[in-house]
Amino acid sequence: MKRFDISVVGELNADLILYGLPATLEPEREHLAETFAITLGSSSAIFAHNISLLGSRVGFTSCIGGDPLGNFCVDRLQESGVDISGVKVLSGKTTGVTVILPLSKQRQILTYLGTTLDLQFAHLDLNYLRSASHFHLSSFFLLRGLRPRIPDLFSQMKKSGLTTSLDTNDDPEDLWADDVKSALKSVDIFLPNEREARKLAGTADVQSALDVLAQLVPIVVIKCGPEGAMARRGKDQFRVPSMPVQPVDTVGAGDSFNAGFLHKFILRANLEACLEYGNAVAALSTTRAGGTEALRDQHHRESFLQTPAGQRKGGIP
Ligand SMILES: Nc1ncnc2c1ncn2[C@@H]1O[C@H](COP(=O)(O)OP(=O)(O)O)[C@@H](O)[C@H]1O
Ligand SMILES: [Mg+2]
Repeated sequence: MKRFDISVVGELNADLILYGLPATLEPEREHLAETFAITLGSSSAIFAHNISLLGSRVGFTSCIGGDPLGNFCVDRLQESGVDISGVKVLSGKTTGVTVILPLSKQRQILTYLGTTLDLQFAHLDLNYLRSASHFHLSSFFLLRGLRPRIPDLFSQMKKSGLTTSLDTNDDPEDLWADDVKSALKSVDIFLPNEREARKLAGTADVQSALDVLAQLVPIVVIKCGPEGAMARRGKDQFRVPSMPVQPVDTVGAGDSFNAGFLHKFILRANLEACLEYGNAVAALSTTRAGGTEALRDQHHRESFLQTPAGQRKGGIP
């Protein structure tokens, strides 16, 4: 048996969230927040943390700087049961951070990428990555140092017999260059959201995007926010509605969906069961602030995931 169920490569940083700010921010004024939270951020770390709490054995590879926020992130991953021996500490560098300002109607999201940009192919221990049955990478476009080697990395994992999945997340430059398609040649499951699917496929609607992407990847799963998720495998298409909840915060919903979906996929569940569990774990993640807090609460996690959807009372702030 392999050491891990899943190897994860990606970024690692914290989210700093300031709640209860005035509705509008004026330059040069001091604005006071009512509450403040430091929580685990970054797509791949939220994913790794949450799939570990669902019961998968996870090996995580990333890098941090030699600073307290980097240590905080590693501690949170370790508490969830993730093996962090693939995390390199680059002393003298600074771990990235995201500052989130939820204002009355919209959120301001400010990110410093820090060591996300510094992860290189040379930092990866390929034998460590191969010691799992599945390989997942998040945030293709943010990993600028690793990006030129990502297609090769997927190809090597595939050749070593692992199943593979990719969630690119958004392209901040909105260019959707061809190197993503080159990585997709060795990807078994592609997990974009609706907008990302349309952008990459170059189509106006999501159904056409699914048709185009299904030519490139064996299983395409498109996350459709409150509408749930759809998937295509060859000629078979599935659509599963989301779980009814009153979301407190949808940060990390897509990553939590990936965690639920891939946890079931690794257990060889059928595609509809994977979609249903993805939606359930994503809905759970929206019931607390940040992407991991709802799953960290063992009682809340277990009772939410065990309760049939019809009997659920909605989010607990
Ligand atoms: N309002 C909501 N109610 C219930 N589930 C939701 C809601 N918003 C998002 N989700 C769940 O989160 C998943 C991912 O959300 P989405 O916004 O599509 O992805 P991303 O976070 O990657 O942008 C959805 O497929 C769905 O399962
Ligand atoms: Mg996403």
